[in-house]
Amino acid sequence: MTTPLTVLGLETSCDETAAAVVRLDRDGRAEILAEALYSQLDEHRAFGGVVPEIAARAHVERLDRLVLEAVERAGCGFAGLDGVAATAGPGLIGGVIVGLVTGKALASALQKPFLAINHLEGHALTARLTDGIGFPYLLFLASGGHTQLLIVEDVGRYRRIGTTLDDALGEAFDKTAKLLGLGFPGGPAVEAAARAGRAEAFDLPRPLVGRPGCDFSLAGLKTAVRLAGEAKAPLGEQDVADLCAAFQEAVGAIVADRVGRALDQLQAAFPGQEERLVIAGGVAANAALRARLEALCAERGARLVAPPARLCTDNAAMIAHAGALRLARGERHGLDAEARPRWPLDEESATILGSGRKGAKA
Ligand code: KG4
Ligand code: ZN
Repeated sequence: MTTPLTVLGLETSCDETAAAVVRLDRDGRAEILAEALYSQLDEHRAFGGVVPEIAARAHVERLDRLVLEAVERAGCGFAGLDGVAATAGPGLIGGVIVGLVTGKALASALQKPFLAINHLEGHALTARLTDGIGFPYLLFLASGGHTQLLIVEDVGRYRRIGTTLDDALGEAFDKTAKLLGLGFPGGPAVEAAARAGRAEAFDLPRPLVGRPGCDFSLAGLKTAVRLAGEAKAPLGEQDVADLCAAFQEAVGAIVADRVGRALDQLQAAFPGQEERLVIAGGVAANAALRARLEALCAERGARLVAPPARLCTDNAAMIAHAGALRLARGERHGLDAEARPRWPLDEESATILGSGRKGAKA
């Protein structure tokens, strides 16, 4: 289809219910016309994590209104849309189905093309929406559900070169916070506590650092935090701060090592190209981690792109944007498109590595 294209996007794969309208211009530049988002954090807080059934119900209750709000604010009306895009996975299946069915119903009623979007592709392409960054680049995606290093070569061409063998990075923050009696979500709580802590007070392991490859393993670090805490129990406020600081320091060392190796691979695959690193996902909000990656990039002469926090975490603008890019390439998907709880961006490497073990969190 010819640009400009105006696309409505829906996101319901985890605990954010969101709708947004994005316009893709002729020169490939994209603009967010409107965004409407409801964060379910308060509904899950009491349970110390996201409860899939509560999430799905909240999506059902909120999505219609958010769609109306986004389209109204965009000023284009439903008639002005060129397509409807919805996250089709990966994610919590109940929520994915809510967004997918809503998107299909809208597209069908409006007689517009429908696009079933991989949520990870939304994250992978966000830096083009916010910073107009060129291909190729390395994406470090770290959230509560994902820990991935991907070489983004083009729309639809992603090479996964690293993932987690066990826990996701955000999950490691959340579990550490839970263990130490800090709130949910754990990342911001651990970061805040770590500010008053001394990282050298505890000696924690740095799994896989110095080893070849770009994979992560975080379960051992989580266990080490628990053992260190138990050995020092009862923990005072300063002990908790120290343990958080030591945990964050270990995570920083692990991330710097893995991302450094991934940048080496990017360089080897595209010699002479400017090295570009894009960070995304809730964990990318961590200031200590950002500082670490800034230092790494400065050292290598690489360019670091960090989209604003609200577009690093789950949002619908990235889904609308990915939908518009695919629509511009002449794609449209059938109303039989399936909801996929697991959907690796790089299907080939998932087959080679075995998608089972690395599954949902990979
Ligand atoms: O991308 P996101 O908002 O949602 C998904 O998981 O999809 O990421 C949430 C995750 C949680 O695990 C949360 O603890 C973590 O990101 N997080 C952080 C920080 N803010 C959020 N982790 C470390 N430091 C932070 N400041
Ligand atoms: Zn996400």
